[in-house]
Order: sequence, then structure tokens, then C-alpha cells
Amino acid sequence: MLQSINIMIYIIGNWKSNKIRAEVQHWVSAVSGKFPTSPSVTMIVCPSYVHLSLLEKMNNLQLGVQTLSAFPQGAYTGAISASQVKGIVSYAILGHSERREYFEETDQIVAQQIRQTLEAGITPVIGVHQDNYFSQLSQLDTKELSQCLVMYEPPEAIGSGEAADPVEINIIAQKIKEDFNIKAVLYGGSVTSANITSYLALKSVSGAVVGSASLKPEEWIKMVEAAVLLSATKV
Ligand code: PGA
Repeated sequence: MLQSINIMIYIIGNWKSNKIRAEVQHWVSAVSGKFPTSPSVTMIVCPSYVHLSLLEKMNNLQLGVQTLSAFPQGAYTGAISASQVKGIVSYAILGHSERREYFEETDQIVAQQIRQTLEAGITPVIGVHQDNYFSQLSQLDTKELSQCLVMYEPPEAIGSGEAADPVEINIIAQKIKEDFNIKAVLYGGSVTSANITSYLALKSVSGAVVGSASLKPEEWIKMVEAAVLLSATKV
């Protein structure tokens, strides 16, 4: 009998440089045991490094970081290498547009970070937009690309409350997948519980990267509920 295989849906909370210790503890107790799970939904939270240990014991939640060093471990003061977070996180957001803008990360630097991350067995989540996806992904070979998730985030949609048009996002996600043999494309930019389903339902989009809404426990629970509901039908 033919069985349809459900596609994996990713929900990634990108906490950026937010939350002090007590706020993380509050988030953990507010969401623990309150969100549904599904084998077809991967839930990932990317807090600041200093808070990783507070989230490590949560069930059904994978961890990620928001950047990693382009260098291996060694004499690179202040840097955190991929090998140092191996075994703690499974994902690493790399090349977020805020890293490119405020920390001057280039396509080349991000490509080096991606290689370090892959060597450590961590899945890169590569931040791109319309103007840089081609130059960024062209830096990688076919084998590297096949292990990467791509998060497509129009800069004007990030933190603005003006989420991009889902129809346009589906077209560009399809184009990226035609051009490059990557694992999946996710959308990010002003995603909330009110609009997440319109992105998760898109044929060429496999998940959402959520910034500010993921900081709120009640929003996180609702977004996971929406993903689990949708995962039952998305094939
Ligand atoms: P936002 O951030 O959801 O607050 O727009 C998304 C992101 O930058 O990853």
C-alpha cells in the first residue's frame, strides 16, 4: 500500500539578544507540557549562549545558536566554535541579516561558519534574502548544500509587523529550491500565531523562523499548535 510521507515542518524561535535569566525561567515554566508534539514538527529555540543550559532539559525542544565562529577552537578571543556547542545544540542560525548589517559578516565569512558547523555535525540555518541568496548559496558545494536549511527573510519584514506576501514567498522559495539542492526553505519576518499557518501551508516552504512572537509563551504555544495541526495534512 502506498503511504504518503509527511514533510517535516520546522518552527524556530530566534530570541536574538533578548531575555535575562529570570525571563527565560518564566518562559520555560510557562510553556513546559503546554504545547503539543508531532513527529512531523521539529521545534527549535535559539536563545543567547548564556541561556542554553536553562533550556537543555526541556522535552520535545531542540536547541540552536544564533551564530558561530568562522574559526575552529583555539586562540580566537571571545569566539564560540561549533565544536564547543556540539552535543548541546543541533542547529545554528548563520548569516542572519542583523549579523550581516551590524557585525559585517559577508557571504565568505558565513560560508566559513557553515563549514565549521557542518564539521561539528550541526545543521546550519542560513539567513538570506532576495539580493544575496544566490551569492551566498553559490559559495557551497552540492554536498554542503544538501545538509543546510535556508531561512528566507526579507529585511523589511523583520521586526516590522509587515510580514511578506505568502504568494511571493512561495514563488521565491520554489526558485531557491530549483537553483540549489538544499534541505528546505523556511520563512522569517513578523511571523505570529495569527499568520503562521499561511506560511506553513505553502508548498515550497517547510517552516517558520520567529523572532519577537517566540519570546511570548502564549504565542509559542499557539504557533506550535498551528504547526502540529497543519502537519497532519501537509504531504
Ligand atoms: P521577527 O524576527 O519575527 O521579530 O520579525 C524574525 C527574525 O529576524 O528571524
